[in-house]
Amino acid sequence: MACTCVVGLQWGDEAKGKVVDILTDTHDLVVRYNGGPNAGHTVVAGNKTFKLSILPTGVIKPKVKSVIGNGVVIFPARLREEIAQLQKNGIETGDNLVISDRAHVIFPYHLEQEKITESNEGTGIGTTGRGIGPCYQDKVGRVHAIRTGELVRPIHLEERLRQILDFKNRLLRGFNPNAVQFDARELAKEYAEHGEFLKPHLADTTRLLHEALAAGKNILFEGAQGSLLDVDHGSYPFVTSSNSTTAGIASGTGIPPRHINRVIGILKAYTTRVGKGPFPTELNDGPEGLGERIRKVGREYGTVTGRPRRCGWFDAVAAAHSAQINGVDEITIMLLDVLSGLGKLKIATAYELDGERIKHFPTDAGELQRCQPVYETVEGWSEPIEDARKLADLPLGARKYADRIGEILQLPVKLISVGPDRVQTIFTVQG
Ligand code: IMP
Repeated sequence: MACTCVVGLQWGDEAKGKVVDILTDTHDLVVRYNGGPNAGHTVVAGNKTFKLSILPTGVIKPKVKSVIGNGVVIFPARLREEIAQLQKNGIETGDNLVISDRAHVIFPYHLEQEKITESNEGTGIGTTGRGIGPCYQDKVGRVHAIRTGELVRPIHLEERLRQILDFKNRLLRGFNPNAVQFDARELAKEYAEHGEFLKPHLADTTRLLHEALAAGKNILFEGAQGSLLDVDHGSYPFVTSSNSTTAGIASGTGIPPRHINRVIGILKAYTTRVGKGPFPTELNDGPEGLGERIRKVGREYGTVTGRPRRCGWFDAVAAAHSAQINGVDEITIMLLDVLSGLGKLKIATAYELDGERIKHFPTDAGELQRCQPVYETVEGWSEPIEDARKLADLPLGARKYADRIGEILQLPVKLISVGPDRVQTIFTVQG
């Protein structure tokens, strides 16, 4: 029995989807445990590319059971769009998709609420605008939250929405006299219809996962976002509202930590981030600079919002922090091809904070903002590497760069990705 987790060690968008896709061959279930429609994973199946945000990557392989755990927040309309997109391309989602009846539901008032905080320069953190924060706030607040299991009880649902909207409508109006107001009956009708649709997929997924464990099945946990966006361990408050680290597996699925026997940390060969927040190794070197070049070559634009991603050098201080809190066993280096022909490359191995050299990731976002990276310079390589299929095919510079990352983090590099296609993958000698 294997319980594997694929987790991003940066600020998200580490190309986790490709690794998950490869691993679905050897796993029976793929489980999402955190986040919601803020995530964006690009999955290539045959000659088709799918953009998914709530459905687990495993869903394109019907033999795999795809599970949405209780830690995920669901916007039913988006979920249905994704299912419809797959259906249009001949991929059916039936018994292979199971959704926790404990997962929380995003409503349109969550999106309206988020607009208020995000439109304020002082409080906005550059979210994806998908209602993630307000939905998790309601979950933890316990008073105004609705779980998927409640969508299939129409009378109860309307009653709950009446109570909730009494509060939410006043809240929205309090900030803006012209704010949208929601009608409990209409919203209940819309969401009860979603409930009917979701009903065949809803289950106690905690029980299902424990049964799978008992039957010796292999389970793959698919982290959404990256560890530096984790609400407890990331660059708070510029984070998302869930535990995107492996810590989220236990709370977001009901599978205790002791069952996780392989943690694969996914790293890009450089660093990116979307939205606001400190980013010590960011390359702010203008339209002709390296930051822009990485963005163009790596097609670094947000999957969900299309926003250009901020790009910068590999930050080993941040990556080491993430590797530690996740209990990473091995790493993968993705998008190495993007760095071809850039000349000498830099890796941040420490920070200078207020005149002091530090090797830890600061707790305070203000401190992180003041950190100046201390770089080690590494020879680059000039040749394209998209066609490399084994380590020996890589130019010496590329090999040394990947080796150096593994050496600094003291973790084996098990996979190097040199392009989006599944075949553009090098499995290193360590197996
Ligand atoms: P939220 O998750 O929409 O509340 O956004 C909070 C922060 O996390 C913002 O900086 C977003 O850009 C970032 N974020 C959320 N999901 C992702 C993701 O899947 N990839 C990269 N950044 C993300």
